[in-house]
Amino acid sequence: MDILTHKADGILTIEFNRPEKKNAITAAMYSAMVEALKDAESDSAVRAILFIGKPDVFTAGNDIEDFLKNPPTAADSPVLQFLAQISRATKPMVAAVAGNAVGIGTTLLLHCDLVYAADNAKFALPFAQLGLCPEAASSMLMPQIAGYQRAAEKLLLGEAFNAEEAREMGLINKVVPGDQLFAYAQSQAAKLVALPASSIRVTKRLMKQAQTAAVETQMAEEIKHFSAMLSSPEAKEAFTAFVERRKPDFSKFE
Ligand code: COA
Repeated sequence: MDILTHKADGILTIEFNRPEKKNAITAAMYSAMVEALKDAESDSAVRAILFIGKPDVFTAGNDIEDFLKNPPTAADSPVLQFLAQISRATKPMVAAVAGNAVGIGTTLLLHCDLVYAADNAKFALPFAQLGLCPEAASSMLMPQIAGYQRAAEKLLLGEAFNAEEAREMGLINKVVPGDQLFAYAQSQAAKLVALPASSIRVTKRLMKQAQTAAVETQMAEEIKHFSAMLSSPEAKEAFTAFVERRKPDFSKFE
């Protein structure tokens, strides 16, 4: 099972469990998470959701080979369903990030309510490096939380940044020593569980509602470009270079 789900003490834990591929996410993994998240919405026993990976990797983002096999072009594609689900979640979502969080591994955090990272965490938004463009409304949410210049640096250059920089930017709440990360995130989720569920729900909705429509519009706009770019020669060059373990050469494209 590449996605493990576990319900206990009011918390649904969703764990990326494909360490041999650095937890890269396939269409089947998105579908498994969509099912778990839908189930959590309708299960009153679930009062918080916790995303975790492994101590050395959160997720390397979309599985690049799967991207080519199952490009997310239709609105009902698993990745788009996943983004719709996390952007509309009514229950609080906590994430515990250790190691690499690439692409959607970082953009999914923009939809979480509390984000904790280990000191070994490394974030990256290499969409332009892959001949693609941002998704998950990150082209709107990143400038909002980090300011335009810092967001531009991360989204245009796509270079990785560490946990301390992510904290300064406002992307994460706190940097935690690696060996304490999962226990800490779990205890924060447990605090949410112990609070009145209705107050948590209404508070979350009040904080988010002013921009719910804007997030959906931005995601729809992004995915139009993203889907078209997936079959562009630039993306093909980037993906092939990744598989062949070489640097991509974009010099021949205008
Ligand atoms: N899609 C598919 N396979 C991936 C992957 C991805 N996004 N990320 C890693 N893998 C696979 C590698 O191909 C490799 O498979 P193999 O052992 O069968 O050759 C395995 O996972 C280990 O990856 P490797 O690159 O050797 O690990 P690393 O520790 O040196 O580097 C990363 C880790 C995350 C920095 C690196 O794998 C990476 O940059 N991945 C791509 C990230 C990316 O561009 N994601 C898409 C965002 S839209």
